[in-house]
Amino acid sequence: MIDRYAVIGNPIGHSKSPPIHTAFAQQTGQQLTYAALEALRDGFADVVATFRASGGKGLNVTMPFKGAAFAYASHFTERARITQSVNTLTFDGDTVYADTTDGAGLVRDIQVNIGIPIRGKSVLLLGAGGAVRSVVLTLLEQVPTQIVIVNRSGAKALALQHQFAAYGTVRAGSYADIANEAFDLVINGTSASLSDGLPPLAPTSFAPGSLAYDMVYGKGVTRFMAYAQEHGAQHSADGLGMLIEGAAEAFLSWRGVRPDTQPIFAMFQTSSSGRGSGIG
Ligand code: ATR
Repeated sequence: MIDRYAVIGNPIGHSKSPPIHTAFAQQTGQQLTYAALEALRDGFADVVATFRASGGKGLNVTMPFKGAAFAYASHFTERARITQSVNTLTFDGDTVYADTTDGAGLVRDIQVNIGIPIRGKSVLLLGAGGAVRSVVLTLLEQVPTQIVIVNRSGAKALALQHQFAAYGTVRAGSYADIANEAFDLVINGTSASLSDGLPPLAPTSFAPGSLAYDMVYGKGVTRFMAYAQEHGAQHSADGLGMLIEGAAEAFLSWRGVRPDTQPIFAMFQTSSSGRGSGIG
């Protein structure tokens, strides 16, 4: 029987994971299928059980099920255990292995594709939901000078600071707290761009030569990216590369071969991709 994989989420119709993994499989000569599964908000475990019963080998997990996947799994990579968020499940009999590849995808996109080393840089993370939680550890592993997490609700940012304080220099605050600071890397992990919103970020937040990275993809140049370019960021990117590189990491753990991601970028280099260099 051909090996079956899928992405599970709600909603899932927009997901680019099926074409990405299908292209990876073709490129590497791997025999597999990759589908999209939608589950009701309280129906994660049922859909996963049906998928496993029909021979499913692995799942990617997207919103809103990354916490549910963490609760469902029996074995964890260290980064999944510390992060408490899971986007990749692998099934082997009764055993459910869990990993999170979001942080690795983001870091690889920034350092390899965009070409900006994180070591020694100051990093600002906007937001304190699941999107930010899934990348803090891997960013800290690159040894930036500091990571500052700001959020409208300060308590959520503080909770993340406590979760990751053992792994590097993390500070939490409000948008007002950083009004006089500039950062080399400003990463928007809020959901503001999904509704054409803009976090209340001071225009002075972008250091000379800085990168503004929006974790959202498929929205073209977001308001955050445009704002960053207007206010001195040298580079801006959306989250398409994070998605593709995170998918490659998952594919590697499932199939033992790392696909070449560059042809996949070419598949999506359309008006919906928002990458480029701004002014400065
Ligand atoms: P996810 O798991 O995708 O990160 P989430 O847990 O709902 O989603 O978190 C959304 C994040 O975006 C939160 O940090 C939220 O800020 P609050 O916790 O203060 O609500 C942030 N967010 C959403 N819209 C925003 C906006 N217009 N400006 C600033 N932050 C916003």
